[in-house]
Amino acid sequence: MDANESKRVVLVDHDEAFGPVLTNVLGSGYSLTWIPSVSDAISILERDEADVVLLNWDDDPDATGEKPSRELLRAISELSLAAPLIVFSWDTRRETALEAIRGGAFDFFVQPLSVLELRFAIDRAYRRMALARELINAQRLIGTKYVDGLLGNSKAMEYIFEVIHKVAQVFTTVLISGESGTGKEVVARSIHRLSARANKPFVAFSACALPESLIEDELFGHAKGAFTGASQSRKGRFEEAQGGTIFLDEIGDLALPLQAKLLRVLQERQVERLGSNAPIPLDVRVLCATNRNLEEMVRQGTFRQDLYFRISVVRIQLPPLRDRLDDIPLLADHFLTAFAVAHKKEVRGLTPNFVTALAGYEWPGNVRELQNVIERCVVLADGPQLHIEDLPPEISRLGVSAEIRRGSFHESVRSFKREVLRTALRLHNGNKLRAAQELRISRCYLHRLLNQLDLHVDPVDSEDADSLSAAAELTLAEGEPEQAEDELVASVGEAR
Ligand SMILES: Nc1ncnc2c1ncn2[C@@H]1O[C@H](COP(=O)(O)OP(=O)(O)OP(=O)(O)O)[C@@H](O)[C@H]1O
Ligand SMILES: [Mg+2]
Repeated sequence: MDANESKRVVLVDHDEAFGPVLTNVLGSGYSLTWIPSVSDAISILERDEADVVLLNWDDDPDATGEKPSRELLRAISELSLAAPLIVFSWDTRRETALEAIRGGAFDFFVQPLSVLELRFAIDRAYRRMALARELINAQRLIGTKYVDGLLGNSKAMEYIFEVIHKVAQVFTTVLISGESGTGKEVVARSIHRLSARANKPFVAFSACALPESLIEDELFGHAKGAFTGASQSRKGRFEEAQGGTIFLDEIGDLALPLQAKLLRVLQERQVERLGSNAPIPLDVRVLCATNRNLEEMVRQGTFRQDLYFRISVVRIQLPPLRDRLDDIPLLADHFLTAFAVAHKKEVRGLTPNFVTALAGYEWPGNVRELQNVIERCVVLADGPQLHIEDLPPEISRLGVSAEIRRGSFHESVRSFKREVLRTALRLHNGNKLRAAQELRISRCYLHRLLNQLDLHVDPVDSEDADSLSAAAELTLAEGEPEQAEDELVASVGEAR
């Protein structure tokens, strides 16, 4: 912001007397606009044409029964980067001040006003606004690499961040595809949040598992009397999204007749409620998502080609998590912190083996599955770090095989032995006698192996331990790899 620019102050006041006084007091460096109507003030805010807003608090309802002061407060709290609001009032009650501040006002003054104090408050509010804008500009300058709420440092995700930033600025329809749990809905929300429509509604609708007639009613609404039981007219989701964005999830699940209706709405940019023939113009941005192969569906005749072309002007294909391994440590770390806070657990880190195991798994449920696995680990964790043993067996197994693939022969043998012992102990809830029986070795030999391999079942050491956490108690330390091979031979010998 240019230092020579004057600060744009908007005074919302039903009384015209104060404006000229304030203009005099503020002097140069400020441009004051007096606006008597709250709805005009809201338009100014939406167009981002104010730096600070002053409101003469009026508790009287207007002709429609609304209380305009509260309406302005609400509008400001809904705008993402609204100018700070300073409220003044003759009302000396504490509740009024609290209501204004809780509703998002920056400051509250009781009249009669000290205009110098008011100017001081305007300057403070202006500085805050300028800082917030600078922050946004700085974020733009450091590049388009990041999108709030969407994590990733793989090349694939960096590219997706760039596309999101680009498509957010234009009105075009976007088709977001990807396996389940890859983040399609997060991407749709990000596009909306970064667009000029951010302060307008984002309406998500999933066509999945709803009967056709209900989908039609949900999307397009109905007129009074449109069908038996329609005693009131009702807006559909398209109308609810007016001015904003509609996110049509699972678009591939839409039956052919509905596809035709949707296509008409998209082409004509207007909607007719069921049972009415009065078209309602729409100003709605459309984002669609699918985890199905729409091109294949077009080939098979189950998805309309004309609709496919219309919705896929821009396509964002989210890669499965297994194809962007670089994102796994970042995501795992993020979920760890989030769930540690949510579940009030003192878990602060992931061990390298834990991360190796995550990277070896296929993640059929993608980021959502990773999120669930980390949550489960955090809930069950006993120590400050997550270990490979905290993972479900189908994932922890892969960590060890990765270790085996990477290490020297002796390290691999040692890893293999540790894995065999860990699995047996886990299967028997830490009961060493039963684990030894299963492995067909003596209990004494099992103890010796545990010592040699620095595997400790601690403090769960009882022979009939039945706690599931027993396996999680296993801690690992490095020993002498050279001894490993001999021990393996010995263990086979003893088993005979
Ligand atoms: N890149 C990411 N960064 C952070 N969280 C993510 C990311 N991708 C997905 N998630 C999280 O994973 C979960 C699943 O994401 P989302 O619901 O967007 O997936 P989806 O592709 O719509 O899945 P589905 O096809 O099953 O509906 C959400 O909790 C979301 O917050
Ligand atoms: Mg989804």
